[in-house]
Amino acid sequence: MTGQRVLIIGAGYIASHIARRLATLGHTIVLSSRHESTPAGEQLGWLPVDVRERQSVHSLIRAACPDTVITVHGPSDITWCEANPEQATAAHQRGASYLAEAFENGRIIAISTDNVFPGHAESCGESAPTAPANTYGRAKLAAENILLATHNALALRVSLVYGWDSSGLRPNFFTTCAQQLRAARPVVVPADCWNTPVLADDVAEWTAALLDSAHTGVIHLGGPRRLTRLAWATHIAQTYGVDPDLVSAAPQESTGYACRPRNACLHSERAAGIPELAVLAPMDVLEASTKLILTGEDYL
Ligand SMILES: NC(=O)c1ccc[n+]([C@@H]2O[C@H](COP(=O)([O-])OP(=O)(O)OC[C@H]3O[C@@H](n4cnc5c(N)ncnc54)[C@H](OP(=O)(O)O)[C@@H]3O)[C@@H](O)[C@H]2O)c1
Repeated sequence: MTGQRVLIIGAGYIASHIARRLATLGHTIVLSSRHESTPAGEQLGWLPVDVRERQSVHSLIRAACPDTVITVHGPSDITWCEANPEQATAAHQRGASYLAEAFENGRIIAISTDNVFPGHAESCGESAPTAPANTYGRAKLAAENILLATHNALALRVSLVYGWDSSGLRPNFFTTCAQQLRAARPVVVPADCWNTPVLADDVAEWTAALLDSAHTGVIHLGGPRRLTRLAWATHIAQTYGVDPDLVSAAPQESTGYACRPRNACLHSERAAGIPELAVLAPMDVLEASTKLILTGEDYL
């Protein structure tokens, strides 16, 4: 259905990318969060919500009157969630149950995570058994289960999302790393954990494709390359032509990534059978990083 009224719960990094893409395709977009925030220069609506509050979620649904709801709200900082389990659970698990009751039978697309897996396997498809390694993964999995039980929801699990993020609030790994290395400042990163990073534009493109479909259940979106942050940072240093010795390795346990699964990597067993997705090949992280660096100087 084109020209949908889409309510996006969340107004941060990924929400903004999805909102811009959907607006370009002719959908009417309302973002929502606790503090007003819409991407600069965009004609996007915004409404207040705190997903931890039942009345707030019910009021939001009444005010927005959406055809489809996309949930892509925080907290998204995995380390913060580990230190604040009640807050993480309130926002993700309780927020999902309020949404399921307020938007009864409505179509919901939930942006979820690879942290629903323990990280023992090199990569997980949709059929892999879940067993979250941390608080964030448990809260997100609980939210998925609540929404999927409505039988009209889709959980799009995405890997580590990257791209330029000029907001300066909590820039993703690529942006932080590029800023550091371009300024010839050292970065210390783990070499013993792996990701399949996915470009924010690809998340937006897949979400847009799924908006026009009736698919339910779980779909995975990971980038095509599995790599360590060490390999990624080294590539960024080489692209800038700075000393690769600025990048050094540390054990995962000694870094801010300690509570994350060793493998946070996704592949899809379903996408090839879904015509809307089969034509959308996610970008390779090293190729995309080179392009971002060559075209994105304005952000630094
Ligand atoms: N970033 C990734 O690599 C990644 C990967 C996989 C999945 N995801 C999922 O994608 C979602 C968004 O990630 P992101 O990187 O876009 O995060 P982000 O930039 O930190 O944005 C989070 C948004 O959620 C809002 N929010 C936080 N608490 C809220 C609450 N109680 N009620 C309503 N809104 C609230 C924030 O605004 P206010 O603070 O103003 O409320 C903000 O707009 C998360 O659920 C995360 O699990 C992210």
